[in-house]
Amino acid sequence: MTSERLIEVKDLVFEYPDGTQALRKISLDIYAGQFIALIGQNGSGKTTLAKSLNGLLRPTEGYIKIDDLDTRDRGTTKKIVTKVGYVFQNPDHQLFNNTIYKEIAYGPTNLGMKESEVKERVEEAAQVCGVEESLFTEHPFFLTKGLRQRVAIASILAMRPRTIIVDEPTTGQDMRQSLEVMNFLRDLWEKEGHTIIIITHEMPIVAQYAQRTVVLGQGQLLMDAPTREVFAEPELLARTFVKPPQITRLAQSFSDYGIPKDILSVDEMSAAFEKVRASQG
Ligand SMILES: Nc1ncnc2c1ncn2[C@@H]1O[C@H](COP(=O)(O)OP(=O)(O)OP(=O)(O)O)[C@@H](O)[C@H]1O
Ligand SMILES: [Mg+2]
Repeated sequence: MTSERLIEVKDLVFEYPDGTQALRKISLDIYAGQFIALIGQNGSGKTTLAKSLNGLLRPTEGYIKIDDLDTRDRGTTKKIVTKVGYVFQNPDHQLFNNTIYKEIAYGPTNLGMKESEVKERVEEAAQVCGVEESLFTEHPFFLTKGLRQRVAIASILAMRPRTIIVDEPTTGQDMRQSLEVMNFLRDLWEKEGHTIIIITHEMPIVAQYAQRTVVLGQGQLLMDAPTREVFAEPELLARTFVKPPQITRLAQSFSDYGIPKDILSVDEMSAAFEKVRASQG
């Protein structure tokens, strides 16, 4: 089965006005239904790529096509945000209205929808994100970081994009909050059929949730493969100062004993040890 291509990135170069080359000839395709992690050291170009994918930044060279839209064409911006949503690295850079309702309604209103349709979009997005209607009149400022992030996601969902990019969804949150937001994103992927791209520095999260991992280093694409294969290449990851999850590294230290190098969880590790033990009779 071949799945539908949603985004095509071809030889993408992005240079900031001060001359910083943040992306150097990146090519990749995003297919419907994927859950992708974008990783790499600080400054490797993850946020720049994410902002390019939803048309916030336009290519210096190369192109990005989303369905039939080319992000180089200025007239496409409004259509692009209905296809690819980007949730900012810090939700506080995104939330600027004085009530939660207005915040979630902002996108659809801007797209010129009727008030009744806007209301329907807001209620739907809030419900999916677990933002209760009793909060609609509250100021976003007074919510917990986790809830602010849900509002930020709801305001993107209200535009009903198929692809959602979330920049560092777990930063500054404890383990419980991190799992909550990640499980929520997994539900959007599994139950609502969205394509999800997360940007993160937390490798256990990548191992647990992403099927495909894209690795950037100094603006270049170092690797783009199933997550399992990516973590089996510690030397390559070291070039962008990323270490595989602890459990994977532990497994790799036992590879002489027949433990595979691409273990992603404690369960897989136990099973692998069990197998080695059984084979030794
Ligand atoms: N507005 C800007 N003007 C000039 N250079 C910038 C700007 N924003 C980012 N850069 C530079 O572009 C490069 C890529 O930055 P980017 O923010 O995309 O990295 P990142 O991978 O998202 O990093 P982090 O993990 O720290 O969020 C870095 O060298 C950064 O300093
Ligand atoms: Mg970033």
